[in-house]
Amino acid sequence: MKNYSIRQRVLVTGGAGFLGSHLCERLVVEGYDVLCVDNFFTGARDNIAHLLGNPRFELLRHDITFPLHVEVDQIFNLACPASPIHYQFDPVQTIKTSVIGAINMLGLAKRTKARILHTSTSEVYGDPQVHPQPESYWGHVNPIGLRSCYDEGKRCAETLFFDYHRQHTVDIRVVRIFNTYGPRMHPNDGRVVSNFIMQALQGNDITLYGDGMQTRSFCYVDDLIDGLMRMMYGPHGLPGPINIGNPHEFTMVDLARAVLAQTDSRSQMVFQPLPSDDPRQRQPDISKAVEYLGWGPKIQLTEGLRRTIEYFRSQISQVDSARRQ
Ligand SMILES: NC(=O)c1ccc[n+]([C@@H]2O[C@H](COP(=O)([O-])OP(=O)(O)OC[C@H]3O[C@@H](n4cnc5c(N)ncnc54)[C@H](O)[C@@H]3O)[C@@H](O)[C@H]2O)c1
Repeated sequence: MKNYSIRQRVLVTGGAGFLGSHLCERLVVEGYDVLCVDNFFTGARDNIAHLLGNPRFELLRHDITFPLHVEVDQIFNLACPASPIHYQFDPVQTIKTSVIGAINMLGLAKRTKARILHTSTSEVYGDPQVHPQPESYWGHVNPIGLRSCYDEGKRCAETLFFDYHRQHTVDIRVVRIFNTYGPRMHPNDGRVVSNFIMQALQGNDITLYGDGMQTRSFCYVDDLIDGLMRMMYGPHGLPGPINIGNPHEFTMVDLARAVLAQTDSRSQMVFQPLPSDDPRQRQPDISKAVEYLGWGPKIQLTEGLRRTIEYFRSQISQVDSARRQ
């Protein structure tokens, strides 16, 4: 995949977050020099602690809403809180990260002639009226709701990417990520997979919203990272946008049952009112990813859940043993 004769310098913004840390790891393994930039809003040093001694890995605490002057060959722009709890905590900062952060990173890409990949989201489709969602669907988004700081911020970032591409010939790649899960998800970020697993492992009630029949599709993190690498380094030359996600759809009730079964938990399911703007259905149409990237998810939900549950179990036991000391 990579030309080893020239060491490529890769900037990963949001590199200490859930997805960013897995991406940094993969890039280091593949022989790239990685500069991880993060303001640690939702990221953690623990996520990248194992990379800190590696000569190919460098960490910089920096907020991408401020300009960054570095020399790089490729940029993966992941910085942005991704869970509703976190992005609604400071909505103005969220939209600044998406919009001003994108302008700063695109400016850097323009100056250094770096290829830049942006992690957009299935949230650009809003509460979709087309199912499954192809990239050609323009979405159904509330511009003034509680989720808008994230959804509209990401939509504006996409606009900026395509304008820099058309106006300044910046070499862009835009990926729309659908729900992804795996080790290093934040345990308390309210995302459904981490929520259910933590609740089941701690013997608490499993909280479902509405009737629990809304569907989501879940992609395991290793599959997602593989998609990002193919998008950045594959021979297709396609700016995107391209959906990356697992099209296999589950209801929230199905997911809760799978988690309960794998954790041997006696937790009960409880039903609460639906939060505002919660989409009923979300499923990627990945035909473009299959055709242009030769990509498709490989890891089944059962296996992905097993690895994720193992991670959360070890996190809980570390906290318990720290408390006992
Ligand atoms: N995980 C998913 O299911 C999912 C789905 C769709 C899109 N995405 C996108 O993928 C990217 C990564 O998501 P994640 O799940 O790893 O989230 P995350 O919250 O774990 O990671 C985001 C990282 O960005 C950092 N960050 C936030 N604001 C910053 C700023 N202004 N400057 C520098 N760093 C900043 C955080 O500290 C964190 O380390 C995000 O852009 C997100 O929108 C993720």
